[in-house]
Amino acid sequence: MKYTIAVIPGDGIGPEVINQAKKALDAVAEAYDHIFLYKEALMGACAIEEKGDPLPEETIEICKNADAVLFGAIGDLKYDNNPAAKIRPEQGLLRLRQELGLFCNVRPVKVYDKLIKNSPFKKEIISGTDIVIFRELTSGIYFGQKELSEDGQTAFDTCTYSVEEISRVAHLAFKAAQGRRKKVTLIDKANVLITSRLWRKTVTEIAKEYKDVSLDFLYVNNAAVQMLLNPKAFDVILTTNLFGDIISDEASVFSGSVGLLASSSIGEKNALFEPIHGSYPEAKGKDIANPLASILSVAMLLEHLGLLEEADAVERAVEKSLDLGITTEDIKGKNQYFASTSKVGHFIADYITHQDDSNMNFTNIHMGQSTII
Ligand code: IPM
Ligand code: MN
Repeated sequence: MKYTIAVIPGDGIGPEVINQAKKALDAVAEAYDHIFLYKEALMGACAIEEKGDPLPEETIEICKNADAVLFGAIGDLKYDNNPAAKIRPEQGLLRLRQELGLFCNVRPVKVYDKLIKNSPFKKEIISGTDIVIFRELTSGIYFGQKELSEDGQTAFDTCTYSVEEISRVAHLAFKAAQGRRKKVTLIDKANVLITSRLWRKTVTEIAKEYKDVSLDFLYVNNAAVQMLLNPKAFDVILTTNLFGDIISDEASVFSGSVGLLASSSIGEKNALFEPIHGSYPEAKGKDIANPLASILSVAMLLEHLGLLEEADAVERAVEKSLDLGITTEDIKGKNQYFASTSKVGHFIADYITHQDDSNMNFTNIHMGQSTII
């Protein structure tokens, strides 16, 4: 089959990790006889530099016409350190989410046995943790009315949710739970926020349509603690835009590195796939960033296109790289050896193509040469 993929490398380490993701996709194309046609587009600080706009019109068009969007990262220290900046790279991503109607953000958090030893958690606490976070992505306090008073002394951000906005993401969370351990936890702040009370009421109604799925509730402050004490107790987490941002960063610690977490953002017509890590400007151009989150985003993209076998091949290749210790510095543990971003990408692409490591040359791998004899 032939697919058009909009590719937005973005800023910082975005272009480097996206290059590895493309290598994985190219390997899938070769092994399974597909064609992926890449349409590159600008977003973020690089788009501000080149076009004066973090989300040029052309980028929206390219994304709307693609079968899927693959995105790297955005953000630059120049803007982070300047709170007065009027145009910010992040505005590009937020607007793209809205333009494409990407209301549901899915963030799986899995613990790889091989990496448990790197974790700050005790093995018995995190081993077997397998959570998927459903974060509402196009409403709430991120997109409500906001204002700074003329004298600069007061400001407000408003949080608004409609039943419709809550329902559409809730249904996706319940459907996902049906294919998993059949449990949804709604994270909110219903003791304080009226929007949270609307979430509880709406989600409780929806739960009646999914009799095989259990539903429970946690206040976000308590959830932040329970996740650390007993992460295995969570299956599907459903939550608002802001709480989802915070909770998913917290959950990323379980996997051993934020460089491992992929995500999808789903709308009625479009879908975007991205690593959850940021642009990590300090590592830009050094070939040291972990490309696994980007490559795992490719697996989610393939799954979304219905290419399940292909998605599985990408995931197996990632697991193989972890098993063999062909990993970047952030997850090397006590190993002396670690590989560059591009070497990890190269190994994974090779493994997808050959799906076999019996003819791999391990001396070469550790010297960073070709992985195949
Ligand atoms: C994320 C990011 C974004 C968010 C930023 C870059 C606006 O942290 O995708 O989680 O807060 O949604
Ligand atoms: Mn975030």
